Amino acid sequence: MQKSTKGIVLAGGSGTRLHPMTAVFSKQLQPVYDKPMIYYPLSTLMMAGIKDVLIISTPHDAPAFQTLLGDGSRFGISLTYEVQEQPRGIAEAFILGQTFISNSQVVLILGDNLFYGKLDFLRNAIRANTGATIFGYAVTDPQRYGVVEVDDSGRVISIEEKPLQPKSTLAIPGLYIYDSDVCSIASSLKPSARGELEVTAIHNAYLKMDKLNIVKIGRGIAWLDTGTPESLLDASTFIHAIEKRQGLKIACLEEVALRTGLLTREQYVKSIATLPISSYRAYCESLLNQ
Ligand code: G1P
Repeated sequence: MQKSTKGIVLAGGSGTRLHPMTAVFSKQLQPVYDKPMIYYPLSTLMMAGIKDVLIISTPHDAPAFQTLLGDGSRFGISLTYEVQEQPRGIAEAFILGQTFISNSQVVLILGDNLFYGKLDFLRNAIRANTGATIFGYAVTDPQRYGVVEVDDSGRVISIEEKPLQPKSTLAIPGLYIYDSDVCSIASSLKPSARGELEVTAIHNAYLKMDKLNIVKIGRGIAWLDTGTPESLLDASTFIHAIEKRQGLKIACLEEVALRTGLLTREQYVKSIATLPISSYRAYCESLLNQ
């Protein structure tokens, strides 16, 4: 029997590194070229076959996310919302999301992580997962991320959060798969020195139980992060370059829903009829003539 898999987009955090852009609206509502940032991680979950998604955001921003995305029916998915009162760490998502997760496996994606390319690596990892699966992606600046050290047989040796002297160049993207045990593991964590429930502590718990898998993502996938003004601009430029060249949009949620069968053609027509007159709507309409 196929495992039921749910998704969480974590769109909390204070986003202070992007101040003053984030003084009014959170980072995940900022534009990445022609769409709000959260469209990209949400499209990643949808393309991985996930139809049931919990969005966790701040008390201030939750209403804005609900205005933007509603109950998800426009995109053929179910969206529910939960509030993280304080930025108490990524791992708190599994305490806030305990009822939602229930006994499903869960994919957590951080609301500021963008993936571009063929997502077979994610679909395969979801299918194969037992325990937890994290990913490794080679970067030039691993000290900015969680870093994983892997032995020759591909097993995890160590995980460290933002180490000053990284033991490898493999950063851990903000995309993780867990079985439902993650909720009890998160509940047993103590806050770290910076007062957060660390996702690295979750991974170390799975590692200790010998239930942590690592999948390396190759260069055929672009993983972009948007944590600084420069990386945000880089992400916009990247999306713009590809969309301009191909005349196709990346992370157009209505299109993803149509192409993955989450919406029938009739449902899609109804969905895009509610969009305001815009180049986005014109693009959605043009897909009907293909
Ligand atoms: C978080 C995680 C880190 C991960 C990164 C990916 O860091 O703690 O392990 O590599 O996301 O974007 P943050 O961006 O919150 O500093």
